[in-house]
Amino acid sequence: MSSPDAAPQGAADLAARVVAWQRVHGRHSLPWQQTRDPYRVWLSEIMLQQTQVSTVLGYYERFLNRFPDVAALAAAPQDEVLALWAGLGYYSRARNLHRCAQAVVAEHGGAFPRTAAELMTLPGIGRSTSAAIAAFCFGERVAILDGNVKRVLTRVLGFGEDLAQAAHEKTLWRMAEAVLPNDEGIEAYTQGLMDLGATVCLQRTPHCEACPLTSLCVARAQGRPQDYPVKRRKLVRSQRAHALLWLEHGAQVWLVQRPQTGVWAGLWALPEFESMDALDQACAAWPGERQTYATIHHVLTHFDWALSPVRLKLVDGAALNEALAAQWPSGRWVSRARLDDYGLPAPVKKLLYGQVLPSNSR
Ligand code: ADE
Repeated sequence: MSSPDAAPQGAADLAARVVAWQRVHGRHSLPWQQTRDPYRVWLSEIMLQQTQVSTVLGYYERFLNRFPDVAALAAAPQDEVLALWAGLGYYSRARNLHRCAQAVVAEHGGAFPRTAAELMTLPGIGRSTSAAIAAFCFGERVAILDGNVKRVLTRVLGFGEDLAQAAHEKTLWRMAEAVLPNDEGIEAYTQGLMDLGATVCLQRTPHCEACPLTSLCVARAQGRPQDYPVKRRKLVRSQRAHALLWLEHGAQVWLVQRPQTGVWAGLWALPEFESMDALDQACAAWPGERQTYATIHHVLTHFDWALSPVRLKLVDGAALNEALAAQWPSGRWVSRARLDDYGLPAPVKKLLYGQVLPSNSR
């Protein structure tokens, strides 16, 4: 393996090959490639952080229709931002997006800063995202290193150290800087690394025959590209189970806003109970028709969540308004027709839109 400070042998060649490959075989018609407007590029990079291009496309267009510039986004209520984000997951991205827009307006006169170093001081913009924006919009010669690019570079360079250790990750950053193109082509190079990671240098089935870097690739020469990148620390996943109460009063649903921290922070969801017994106790005195639904298994970063919904169509919801408000001060009745205005977590949305079937009624 090469030393991180000196450019590895063949570095110039590596960058030139990526640039030439991107210009012919890379992606060119994604909506955020048609612009150097940092607002549009930033929005795309945040959406693409944990989400595939095919999913992002629709969200990106709806978002820009509603918030055509950073000032419009900064001025919007948080609820509206979360509602447009609902379904994309990782909601801290949406909250940071909103905070970032407000910071650009309040602290930078409504114009995004033009260097990666300054962009990185804004909420939700990390080192790789700031570099992508600076390279795409301002042609700055800076390295990116998102998950896909880590895979490409660790393979080509044969970097087998454990990236769970910060020191090794830092070394890889230095190597990513050492292989940047020297003079021109940073935009095509940056996009090319992303495109290689997304379409050629795949995690399980790399298409080495289609890769411009095959003849330089250490992992390929070793015959084991799938062994890179190395990341040893395993997340210990835990299990959680809750009962969800879907209270209805005519055409209205009782929604509660979740706290600003934790899972689904700030989104609107159904009241949640530690157990089915706790749910039954809470609404034992509320007459209505009760239906249970099959348990929904929702996978989050740190735990698997089993959610067991109970639907209770109240005979007289209005009579309970005081009791409901006392138990859930953030709650309110929302008519079915207005559900789209609320940021709902994906499984809750599916349930309320009738995409989960009841398992029994009584
Ligand atoms: N993933 C992250 N950034 C991207 C971009 N600019 N184009 C395609 N996929 C990406």
